[in-house]
Amino acid sequence: MEGLRLGVFALGMMVVCGTPVQERGGPLPLVIWHGMGDSCCNPFSMGSIKKLVEQQIPGIYVLSLKIGNTIAQDMENSFFLNVNKQLDLVCEQLSKDPQLQNGYNGMGFSQGGQFLRAVVQKCPSPPMKNLISIGGQHQGVYGFPQCPGESTYICDLIRKTLNAGAYTKFVQEHLVQAEYWHDPLNEDLYRNGSIFLADINQERGINESYKRNLQTLEKFVMVKFLKDTMVDPADSEWFGFYKPGQSKETITLQESSLYTEDRLGLKEMDKAGKLVFLGADGNHLQFSEEWFNENILPFLR
Ligand SMILES: *[C@@H]1O[C@H](CO)[C@@H](O)[C@H](O)[C@H]1NC(C)=O
Ligand SMILES: *[C@@H]1O[C@H](CO)[C@@H](O)[C@H](O)[C@H]1NC(C)=O
Repeated sequence: MEGLRLGVFALGMMVVCGTPVQERGGPLPLVIWHGMGDSCCNPFSMGSIKKLVEQQIPGIYVLSLKIGNTIAQDMENSFFLNVNKQLDLVCEQLSKDPQLQNGYNGMGFSQGGQFLRAVVQKCPSPPMKNLISIGGQHQGVYGFPQCPGESTYICDLIRKTLNAGAYTKFVQEHLVQAEYWHDPLNEDLYRNGSIFLADINQERGINESYKRNLQTLEKFVMVKFLKDTMVDPADSEWFGFYKPGQSKETITLQESSLYTEDRLGLKEMDKAGKLVFLGADGNHLQFSEEWFNENILPFLR
């Protein structure tokens, strides 16, 4: 069978999210957060992932998050709705969903990876067991290469806006990608100005509850795409980034001060075997069904 290909930027407009009923004592539910320009239910991306998981784990309750009332709003919000507001909406939805009250696993695609990590840190109830970040950018991005297909216009606009002033208050409040923009040449500006990433990465101070909550995870799985040409730098998918002050040389999570000072508890988690670093041999979000079944499903069972 041909590998499953995720058209993450494709615009899916027709499928409605279904919510199968979870049986008592059945498998742990799964919450999915889609990536930029995608939606909860695109049949070529999240829709097919949901179906695949439902086939492989009979009886599982899968909630693919829809931010907004319609699919079109969901896609638009992935560019323009302040992440902190999205988090408020999602946390409220999760806390009210009767099917999730005994816990759930989380799986985020691309920017959905860092957003679900924020859910773990900020909203401990109901509890997440395993977090699976598929191409998430945990140290942000510094560049916006390759913006394909139908999103070209939006991406040009975003690039111009980021260059004009990613850390200005207005841009921060209205452009999602600015909220995880990480300028290694201006770490101070990032630290002070980023309303999302600098906050959840403890850049302005240490919120002990972020650290405590993240450590309740059993596993934090990070998938990096080894031929990723869309995320700059791709090391961010394993929580690495550019070494401060320049934008060529990268350092790993283990070499970063976030880790050595253990501001977020990642060092402790690493020592306890809770961090899992997986590589997928393709471009951003490109993987086969076989790869998914073999590498990801074991964390969902
Ligand atoms: C820590 O984070 C929680 C959850 O977002 C927030 O309610 C609290 O005010 C934060 N504490 C500090 C000291 O900023
Ligand atoms: C820090 O950010 C605040 C809010 O955006 C801004 O008012 C202030 O001037 C910034 N300070 C520095 C040193 O950049």
